[in-house]
Amino acid sequence: MIENSIVYRDFKGKYDYLPVSKAKGSLIWDKDGKRLIDFSSAWNVTNLGWNHPEVRDAIIAQAKKNAQGLLWGSDPVQEEYATALTEALPEGLDACIKATGGTEAIESAVKIARAYTKRKRLIGFKENYHGQLFASLALGLSEKERPALAPLVPEISLLDFPHEEVGEEGFRVFLQKLEEQLKREDVAALVAEPGIITGWGSTLRAYPGFLTETRRLTEKYGTLLIIDEVGTGFSRTGKLFCIEHEQVTPDIIALAKAISNGAAAIGTAVGRTAVFEAAFSDAVLVSTFGWTPIACAAALETLRVHQRESTWELSARKGAYIQKKLTPLLGGKLTGIRGLGMEIGLQFADAGTCSAVRKAAFSDGLHVVVGSGNNMQLMPPLTISEDLLEEGLAILIKHL
Ligand SMILES: Cc1ncc(COP(=O)(O)O)c(C=O)c1O
Repeated sequence: MIENSIVYRDFKGKYDYLPVSKAKGSLIWDKDGKRLIDFSSAWNVTNLGWNHPEVRDAIIAQAKKNAQGLLWGSDPVQEEYATALTEALPEGLDACIKATGGTEAIESAVKIARAYTKRKRLIGFKENYHGQLFASLALGLSEKERPALAPLVPEISLLDFPHEEVGEEGFRVFLQKLEEQLKREDVAALVAEPGIITGWGSTLRAYPGFLTETRRLTEKYGTLLIIDEVGTGFSRTGKLFCIEHEQVTPDIIALAKAISNGAAAIGTAVGRTAVFEAAFSDAVLVSTFGWTPIACAAALETLRVHQRESTWELSARKGAYIQKKLTPLLGGKLTGIRGLGMEIGLQFADAGTCSAVRKAAFSDGLHVVVGSGNNMQLMPPLTISEDLLEEGLAILIKHL
């Protein structure tokens, strides 16, 4: 689909093409001035609300000082951000890669894993999304979508995601299969979202203990655990980082999206200094626009706001409220609800019903998106006011 010479992916009826004229907090206005309550946060990006004033001011102030970074040097705001971010993460995750977004963070992480372990194989999970380039796509793209782009990066095996419904026995079988793979001691890294699939839009939650057990097994066999917190990071799931739910420290954590609240392109892979230093030259970790001072100023202010306001508590509280409010409607068009914090999936009997509800809500002033097939993904800004949350839910409920 091409509009005004910009190419857009045709989202097959999952969204309405939306030319935004203005956005503020949890509201978007389209080009004709139509007001929409936003339940998407631009897909887990504007977690603090659109155009956050303090993040904007931090950008303006930095633009007056220095805008461009240096591949072989640093700006004080880059150093300051690296310190603040690593201090917010579990001990041991103390080195950052400069990247421009989530895809680059994941691609950097897998390059580090191959260079550091001197192994080739990578493990991912089916129907997961980790980015738009060849390695990140190969880590989850469905069979159906592969042929047009094949060959993707080789030596990548995909496992079935052990979601909650597999039960205790299913989870045991999953762990057995994973161990069989890892036992060969040729797997450089296992890449996963931390217990809920946000990227490809299923909001499937992992069976409890998923992070703990994958950590145990990857450690046992010398495989690096790369956790993709591009969608879950920065308070989305009720903790500043989703790994805190199981208190697991991966080898590398990838961050982007809400990292700067959408105000500047930035991403990072954070890991251990010893690993990153050993892999640095071989992994070719250079990015001209990675971590520009402007982007770092935005990310630093974003992190400070999350920490100052304990935004993860808003996410936990409002997420529980949304689930409580919608649960009595189960049984009609709505066949299931699942989620963590303010990352909530609503299931419908079929994709057609899901799409029709989305469209009707959109015309009544609610911007909500459909993830995979029959799953509607609710991701409001975590700072949404109680009034707007009520108003948005009332529109949704009217069509359920
Ligand atoms: C879980 C996850 N990982 C990685 C990415 C890729 O991030 P980016 O679009 O910044 O390259 C996304 C983007 O949607 C994502 O949701």
